[in-house]
Amino acid sequence: MKTLIFNGSPRKNGDTAALIRILAANLKGDVEVVETASANIRPCRDCRKCWKEPGCSIKDRMRGVYDSIDAADNIVIASPIWFSELSAPLMNVLSRLQTYYCARAFRKEEPIRKPKRGAVILVGGGDGSADRAFETAKILLHQMHTVDIFPPIVSHNTNRQPAEKDMAAISGLGVAAAFLNALAAFEPPEGEGTA
Ligand SMILES: Cc1cc2nc3c(=O)[nH]c(=O)nc-3n(C[C@H](O)[C@H](O)[C@H](O)COP(=O)(O)O)c2cc1C
Repeated sequence: MKTLIFNGSPRKNGDTAALIRILAANLKGDVEVVETASANIRPCRDCRKCWKEPGCSIKDRMRGVYDSIDAADNIVIASPIWFSELSAPLMNVLSRLQTYYCARAFRKEEPIRKPKRGAVILVGGGDGSADRAFETAKILLHQMHTVDIFPPIVSHNTNRQPAEKDMAAISGLGVAAAFLNALAAFEPPEGEGTA
């Protein structure tokens, strides 16, 4: 089982990173984290090449991320709330999902083979609401062929309490991990392939 996690925070030891660590410790299989703030991945420039052809005209490290998306069983979007939305670094990287949108909308192709399960982790200082960020995260997860999304895990009081001390969020992560791990139940035992 493979889980791909997008971290939208630029803070290496911030609140998002703390919750990602807790989730990852509870997941089976391989876990890969894309640090969107330092990944050196450029945003979509709307060149429209993908209206006609698969792939992306920008040749950078997003190529590896496309492979990881394709291979993943689970996708997790984890982000601080910025002005009631997902963070700018996360949106920059995930703007590159436009190639998937264009595959379906213009070329009538499904660009990702394997359907996935998803989860969303959001942290915020305590202003506004996480609703809009969750709606945007769902749009992005659907672009990555995520068909089953766990309810959001939100720690929205980090100005007063670090997310890693938010017991409601931590127990939510445990249930989310069980939801994502359930995929392992459908994997064949070692040595037995599927037809
Ligand atoms: C540019 C910016 C915008 C923010 N906007 C919000 C907001 O709308 N609502 C909120 O509750 N917190 C907001 N915050 C606070 C962060 O969400 C909060 O500090 C969070 O815990 C940071 O997570 P991190 O340590 O993983 O980066 C904002 C922070 C920044 C830097």
